[in-house]
Amino acid sequence: MKRFPRALARASALACVAAAALVACGGSDDKYPTLTGDKPLVIGHRGASGYLPDHTLEGYKKAIELGADFIEPDLVATKDGVLVARHEPNISATTNVKDHPEFASRKRKAMVDGFEEEGWFVSDFTLAELKTLRAIQPMADRDQSHNGQYAIPTFEEVLALAKSEGERAKRTIGVYPETKHPTYHANLGLKLEDRLLDILQKNGLTKKDSPVIIQSFETSNLKYLRTKTQVRLVQLIDGNDVNADGSMDFSLPWGQAYDLTVAGDSRNYGALLTPAGLADIKKYADGIGPWKPYLIPTRLTIGADGKPVDLNKDGAIDERDRTVMAPTAVLDNAHKAGLFVHPYTFRSEAKRLASDYKGDPKAEYKRFYELGVDGVFADYPDHAKAARDD
Ligand code: G3P
Ligand code: CA
Repeated sequence: MKRFPRALARASALACVAAAALVACGGSDDKYPTLTGDKPLVIGHRGASGYLPDHTLEGYKKAIELGADFIEPDLVATKDGVLVARHEPNISATTNVKDHPEFASRKRKAMVDGFEEEGWFVSDFTLAELKTLRAIQPMADRDQSHNGQYAIPTFEEVLALAKSEGERAKRTIGVYPETKHPTYHANLGLKLEDRLLDILQKNGLTKKDSPVIIQSFETSNLKYLRTKTQVRLVQLIDGNDVNADGSMDFSLPWGQAYDLTVAGDSRNYGALLTPAGLADIKKYADGIGPWKPYLIPTRLTIGADGKPVDLNKDGAIDERDRTVMAPTAVLDNAHKAGLFVHPYTFRSEAKRLASDYKGDPKAEYKRFYELGVDGVFADYPDHAKAARDD
């Protein structure tokens, strides 16, 4: 199972608006064994990325319309130090930059977290220049009809949208920013953390119960942020791949936090998920955001010929040929450590669902909700909500 490449309170509506501590509106529910007893949060992953190009105001608005409790902007920095929403520094796959001849000469190679990439990089563009580009849908099998229409938003514009759309919908919309490649940005002289804190401060988002959660795949920038803010912090937990037997592949680039790689620390993401690792995370974070196979792994069946069995007989080996295994102890251990758990990424397409779910994304959501996850990063927030609220 290959990772999708990086390059590439409840009660009344009024009470929900007033609720500073953002929880999914609807009241606590015994159906869901979450850390707090609240319903799990629906987090619009990169907006409503199953429907519209990632990280656009239009995509975030759609996520809110579809019922997301939080919207999720990934943050990178422009040449002039502005935080904008993109999934990665390299914008080749998510914008129409290649169609802009005036920027042709900016195509170059760059090292991102120890690996060389070629393309156009946000740190080579001013905000004004970036604003001339338009977003495109990076997944070839998703709707391409919106390509070239929507601009790249700044983080401040995302916060303003969450506020105005929340007022319109009469509910609080949380924002879940991710600091993308913190070490990479620090090396460019474009540190993300203080820029992010300044904007949050300006918007009054400074408290533990403010409707904002900051996430990072690195560890040291979260530790720094802990000394500077009370807002909730989440340690993301990545992996490089899932092996045929359901175990995790901790190879680089995604098997270890890059700041730990740089520091010569041998701990991979698996080490962070042991009870001792979780206790360490609890010292600086409020929750974890693990790749979902850390909670419920899936495995391939290996045939007599030593090759994976093509369960659905379509000639290809993908998620549909994997079967769901018993849950690991990660969720229970995290809850015991006092950490909430928000796994990623839930994608509704049949080819991205294990065979047990029979092409029904709601079946996957329900399995994770029954386990006790506290929220889900969802490409199709409407499906996550429907599975939760059924
Ligand atoms: O931040 C949670 C999830 O978004 C991590 O996956 O690849 O979308 O950054 P990715
Ligand atoms: Ca197959």
